[in-house]
Amino acid sequence: MTETTAPAGRSGISAEQQAVEQQLVDTVIASFDKTEDPRLKFLMQSLTRHLHAFIREVRLTEDEWNKGIEFLTNAGHITDDKRQEFILLSDVLGASMQTIAVNNETVGNATEATVFGPFFVNDAPEIPIGGDIAGGAAGQPCWVEGTVTDTNGNPVPNARIEVWEADDDGFYDVQYTDGRVAGRAHLYTDQDGKYRFWGLTPTPYPIPHDGPVGQMLEAVGRSPVRASHLHFMVTAENLRTLVTHIFVEGDPQIEIGDSVFGVKDSLIKKFDQQPAGTPTPDGRDLGNQTWARTRFDIVLAPADA
Ligand code: BEZ
Ligand code: FE
Repeated sequence: MTETTAPAGRSGISAEQQAVEQQLVDTVIASFDKTEDPRLKFLMQSLTRHLHAFIREVRLTEDEWNKGIEFLTNAGHITDDKRQEFILLSDVLGASMQTIAVNNETVGNATEATVFGPFFVNDAPEIPIGGDIAGGAAGQPCWVEGTVTDTNGNPVPNARIEVWEADDDGFYDVQYTDGRVAGRAHLYTDQDGKYRFWGLTPTPYPIPHDGPVGQMLEAVGRSPVRASHLHFMVTAENLRTLVTHIFVEGDPQIEIGDSVFGVKDSLIKKFDQQPAGTPTPDGRDLGNQTWARTRFDIVLAPADA
């Protein structure tokens, strides 16, 4: 596979030219030498090294540099307190998932983390165990249940579970302009660490793609669609906060590819389809509607792991 049109290595570049380029790298790195905060100094010098290495490796043209600046400018213009194009960019470049990987090293059997996404909202309504997060959002009812434990298998009572998801049309409540609160809630585990609630069977939906990130995806032939998922954030005292999703086994989008690289095998769950008329776990009458059920047992790592 041809990866680049840049010359292989630096073989086509004279020693004099290489020296000029390296001199600039060294000068910029040295410009950060007096940074008081050692972490900031390390970050800025490393960023300089990698950025210059990229420019030199691809032999960036001035036209390409201008296009890059224009792209970032457009990302800035479309960003506001509701739309964050830079996080979207980080997501589609896999930078968000790489940061999660670096900061959430696997601990024993702890549940894996995945991308947060832009649609979490603080202060979602509280529901009782067995309650419904739909709040009128359209979609197939889905019974979700499980247990929260620590890595030693001890149940975690009173863990706070935030859940949020898109409706059947692929939109989160915050993407509508009518101020609705739907498809999100929080609840607490019981004394045995158990939880259960009604949600909606997740369906695939595109990330916002009407801006520069969407244009970039189109230019490179990539789909903006995310694999169907249900978001969770679980917090409990002395345990590491878990931000994750569960994905729907058999969803073709898992094979096609999740646009933000969020899928992990351990997070793919069976969503068992139930024919209309099948008795529900809590006796809820769904009339002639089909429904689904899934189980997600959550294992939290120690806070200091
Ligand atoms: C989401 O899961 O909703 C999402 C994640 C990353 C980017 C856009 C959307
Ligand atoms: Fe999502």
